[in-house]
Amino acid sequence: MTQFQGSHILSVNQLDLDAVQQIFNVASRMAPYALRQKRTSVLEGAILGNLFFEPSTRTRISFGCAFNLLGGKVNETVGMASSSLSKGESLYDTARVLSSYSDVIAMRHPEAFSVKEFAQGSRVPVINGGDGSNEHPTQALLDLYTIQKELAEGGRKISGMHIAMVGDLKFGRTVHSLSRLLCMYKNVSFTLVSPKELAMPDYVINDIVNAGHKITITDQLEGNLDQADILYLTRIQEERFPSQDEANKYRGKFRLNHNIYTQHCKSNTVIMHPLPRDSREQANELDNDLNSHPNLAIFRQADNGLLIRMALFALTLGVDSQLEKYECPV
Ligand code: CP
Repeated sequence: MTQFQGSHILSVNQLDLDAVQQIFNVASRMAPYALRQKRTSVLEGAILGNLFFEPSTRTRISFGCAFNLLGGKVNETVGMASSSLSKGESLYDTARVLSSYSDVIAMRHPEAFSVKEFAQGSRVPVINGGDGSNEHPTQALLDLYTIQKELAEGGRKISGMHIAMVGDLKFGRTVHSLSRLLCMYKNVSFTLVSPKELAMPDYVINDIVNAGHKITITDQLEGNLDQADILYLTRIQEERFPSQDEANKYRGKFRLNHNIYTQHCKSNTVIMHPLPRDSREQANELDNDLNSHPNLAIFRQADNGLLIRMALFALTLGVDSQLEKYECPV
């Protein structure tokens, strides 16, 4: 199948279950390369333009690392100030120019729909690494891949599962994208826990309801977790608030620690967080005292991100069937 070759990846709405399964199949084949058990130079000579106009650790570095592991080279642009966007250049012109220097572009930008606007000027595939509070499709794919793997270990499936999403559901783009991916499955129960002011946007709620899923909306954490197969925590997205003081009103409202987990969750509830978690005293939505708990999947999520991003590069550049052909000595 070649439906990905030459295509932008801008939104999870582009994907159906077959496409998701295709990405997951390629991601699974990436594991030996990510673990350095095998090497491939399938993207030798190719260049990734890695454009991050907003802070990132996992997404930016794993996009770059994924491209390197496939044999390609990475050109980084970090921060708006180092780009002529700060001189008033349009996203269209920036894309038009940079797509001559790259075979594929990964991009994060603080404005919703900016990556889509950028893609209109690009002559190479553009992958959305997060556009404001709108979407984070590669995070949602790695989250879904993680959920499928974690549940499968206990004989559970995505269809029929219960997910509790907690925190800043208004500005947290990962929960928007993940919810929409989950709308492709059957009989998922959602418990959405947030302050009323930071509730999941109506357009996402409508998608969940239209998919026929059950949904509970609450501003109370304890007492609402006992059915959850997946507990997905998020931080307060302070960069989307008008001021620190405004964000501080919501910090620390929902905290998970070992004691609360043991008292209120099932023994097999998987704990997820897209990271970064806010470890400052006043926030601390996911306490370090769960760090060695076997159900804490947060670092497995980050590891899976490498596989998903390798798969997306291989698919958009049309080399997914050639990994083995270009294997080289480890
Ligand atoms: N999950 C995520 O997007 O992390 P970064 O902001 O560090 O890329």
